Amino acid sequence: MCPVKKDIPIAGPWITQKEVALVADAAQNAWYGRAGEYNDRFEKAFAKFVGADFATSLPSCTSAIHLALAALGIGPGDEVVVPDVTWIASVAPVLYVGATPVFADIRPDTWCLCHQSLEECITKKTRAVIAVDLYGSMPDMDSISAVCRKHGLALVEDAAEAIGSEYKGRAAGSFGLAGVFSFHGSKTLTTGEGGMLVTNDSSLFSRVLFLRDHGRDPGDIMFFNREVAYKYKMSSLQAALGLAQLERIDELVSKKREIFSWYRQKLAAVDGLCLNAEPAGVKNSYWMSTIVLDKALGLTKESLMAKLKEKGVMTRPFFHPLSAIPAFKEHPQAELARKRNKTAYRIAPFGLNLPSALSLAKDDADFVSDAILKVIRQG
Ligand SMILES: Cc1ncc(COP(=O)(O)O)c(C=O)c1O
Repeated sequence: MCPVKKDIPIAGPWITQKEVALVADAAQNAWYGRAGEYNDRFEKAFAKFVGADFATSLPSCTSAIHLALAALGIGPGDEVVVPDVTWIASVAPVLYVGATPVFADIRPDTWCLCHQSLEECITKKTRAVIAVDLYGSMPDMDSISAVCRKHGLALVEDAAEAIGSEYKGRAAGSFGLAGVFSFHGSKTLTTGEGGMLVTNDSSLFSRVLFLRDHGRDPGDIMFFNREVAYKYKMSSLQAALGLAQLERIDELVSKKREIFSWYRQKLAAVDGLCLNAEPAGVKNSYWMSTIVLDKALGLTKESLMAKLKEKGVMTRPFFHPLSAIPAFKEHPQAELARKRNKTAYRIAPFGLNLPSALSLAKDDADFVSDAILKVIRQG
């Protein structure tokens, strides 16, 4: 019986006095004429970090995707292609605007949207593609962008999980017509809850600003709403937290990469087990260190999770294919996806996210790796 070590958190932030000081300052001073100061500073610094012209801070990444689709005018009768394996938030906004999601397959190496499958999913109704940087991994952006250009589709990059990742030297989130980020408490950069939309397209950006403020023109002090729209804003307190975190982003991403390196040292050479990919030209920010088991090992993610739990190690399942979860099971597109998406169905049942919180220490990661090795060897 191995000693049970408890409370190795799966995900969570790294907060220092710098964050505490800026949030305290916002709580005291970011009101009246100074109400938007921290949002402005966070947005400008964020746009610079990503290499985008415009950024707007929002209450979540889900709202950012919703605004991107709404600003693009996507609605009933339109189809939007999404990878079958991602968090439901990548696709829920497609339903919010009344459009139809089409679930494309993923690649076996990056676990991200496969451009060949994307192309097979395109019909006359396709208007947009949401490419997801899963767990910090980057899709083959050259090929996906080429497919989007060829078919005249808008690309939205869901970089919720990938702040700090890069593809050929360009920041995650900078590839689409719009890029979106999440600052949920589990993310590498957190504001508690929060999100950001970035773009280089000034007319898309104006429409986003209009839609996120109840259909009001920016600067309208006469409350003269021109359309019924949404209320999607981030508070100054959250923006202050985000700004302080962004000033530490190199340190936060380096820690994520260090955590992954601890797992890699112990697990990379193990037969039948593969870890997050970092193909040539990509920097993976490893939001979640993740393993995928070979089916031949005879363990599913559920059985491995249960056995690890017995050893005091909590893990998270790799996302299930969206086409397999109850929310979409009866959707006509899900039925097509279940037949088409061989890679999604080969990988998703055998993947686990390992504890990857920014508070993790090397002996925590070693404890987790040793527990995995024991379970695998015992079968
Ligand atoms: C891939 C992906 N997209 C979108 C979201 C939504 O982010 P939020 O929770 O900020 O709305 C998440 C959040 O976990 C995510 O992982």
